[in-house]
Amino acid sequence: NKRITIAIDGFSSTGKSTVAKQLARELGYVYVDTGAMYRAVSFYAMRNDLITPTSFDKEGLVAKLDNIQLKFIFDPDLGYAAIYLNDENIEDEIRTLEVSNYVSKVAAVSQVREKLVSQQQLMGKEKGVVMDGRDIGTVVFPHAELKLFMTATSKERAQRRYKELIEKGQEVNYEEVLKNVEERDHLDTTREDSPLVKAQDAIEIDNSSLSIEEQFEKILKLSLDKI
Ligand code: C5P
Repeated sequence: NKRITIAIDGFSSTGKSTVAKQLARELGYVYVDTGAMYRAVSFYAMRNDLITPTSFDKEGLVAKLDNIQLKFIFDPDLGYAAIYLNDENIEDEIRTLEVSNYVSKVAAVSQVREKLVSQQQLMGKEKGVVMDGRDIGTVVFPHAELKLFMTATSKERAQRRYKELIEKGQEVNYEEVLKNVEERDHLDTTREDSPLVKAQDAIEIDNSSLSIEEQFEKILKLSLDKI
């Protein structure tokens, strides 16, 4: 069996990470959540007052990038790897709406992208990896054997994200979650460096009306066809 690279890109809350985790487990591959890395840098910026609702000290963040060390360590309770910022587990801290509101601004900074993309390329260099994000099939692994581009309507996606946050006990309302989803779509698709765009050779999957099982079966089949 040959080991391949599977790149999964798409808008936020399209179920990329759900299917990527299932696929990695089924194939015995490594799963890398690149959104967690951009969230971790945003969390660092937030904690160090480099970003607030009204300001963003880009130069300050760029100057401190060398102080940011990210690592993934498998967590048997979660069933996937949790992200660590300088040896501190911040898996829960990065999943808040506050971090979501900053992340697309931080992810638009080229020096941030350079740092994270090179780390992602290292993590995938042995293949046997399922990586999800916004630029995996276009920038990180343009030669990936399988590229998927996931879509769903913004209302459907906001509904899913809202449910997730409520289940985690966070106090949010649907309207603000929808606003965040739409703002991130806009920033992610219009930024200059590595905008979210479907790679020419990516297979588009609209999962608005697919169940998680149907989606998994479909994508597993596409993967096995390449292996
Ligand atoms: O996947 P997730 O929704 O956690 O990603 C959070 C944000 O990180 C995205 O909205 C995007 O701004 C940024 N991101 C990115 N490139 C990636 C992954 C995430 O710009 N490869």
